[in-house]
Amino acid sequence: MLYFSHIHQHEEDMAVVAFVSQKGGVGKSTLARALAREAAAGGLRVKVADLDTQQGTSVDWHRQRLSVGIEPVVSVEAFATAAQALNVAAGYDILIIDGPARTSQATAEIAKAANLVVQPTGASLDDLRPAVREFHALVKAGIPVGRLTFALNRIGTAAEEADARAYLEEAGYGVLAGCLLERPAYRQAQNGGHAITETRFAGLRAQADALIQSLIDRATE
Ligand SMILES: Nc1ncnc2c1ncn2[C@@H]1O[C@H](COP(=O)(O)OP(=O)(O)OP(=O)(O)O)[C@@H](O)[C@H]1O
Ligand SMILES: [Mg+2]
Repeated sequence: MLYFSHIHQHEEDMAVVAFVSQKGGVGKSTLARALAREAAAGGLRVKVADLDTQQGTSVDWHRQRLSVGIEPVVSVEAFATAAQALNVAAGYDILIIDGPARTSQATAEIAKAANLVVQPTGASLDDLRPAVREFHALVKAGIPVGRLTFALNRIGTAAEEADARAYLEEAGYGVLAGCLLERPAYRQAQNGGHAITETRFAGLRAQADALIQSLIDRATE
């Protein structure tokens, strides 16, 4: 069980955590679902807003999760815009926005609505360069740097993780503690309606837990 420090203290305090990226397939939906699962398991009222109306991957995952009866139930709904998601968010402790890739305009709007903006990225320079550019663009659009953080995904080795972390910190951004290794088991878990924190492999589960815990700590500080 992951630990939520004080997100629940004030009824009116709803946390909005948004996952964004220009690149597709970096892990936005993967992390959004895992955060949602852990928030729900921690007793929070959580809503995932799937803003990728083209793909609706988190909506599909939710349907799969319901159909095989996995608990806790995580509420996922599709919305066209961040504003529409915020409109129905009253009554939830945490709104998790699963953003679409390749939409600068929508990304800026999503980021403005969020307390914390998380950009997952891989470790290659091909991934890191556009990821940093994306955050630079958000800062230019008026989002405070302190609200932006990276999450390292698809990591191969500890050295690779360290290099990527150093690159992103050098660029002026925070990076969540922990990372996700590239592992088929994470895909398998999600194929079956589970979150990555529910994979049956204990070592991978512990690593996913550590990353999501640092995300929770960051979202509730
Ligand atoms: N660490 C990992 N190891 C193995 N597979 C992963 C890992 N992270 C994500 N995946 C898989 O990669 C695919 C893309 O991940 P995901 O859907 O989370 O990315 P996304 O950023 O939401 O993509 P999109 O931009 O299309 O919305 C999924 O099939 C997911 O299961
Ligand atoms: Mg997605």
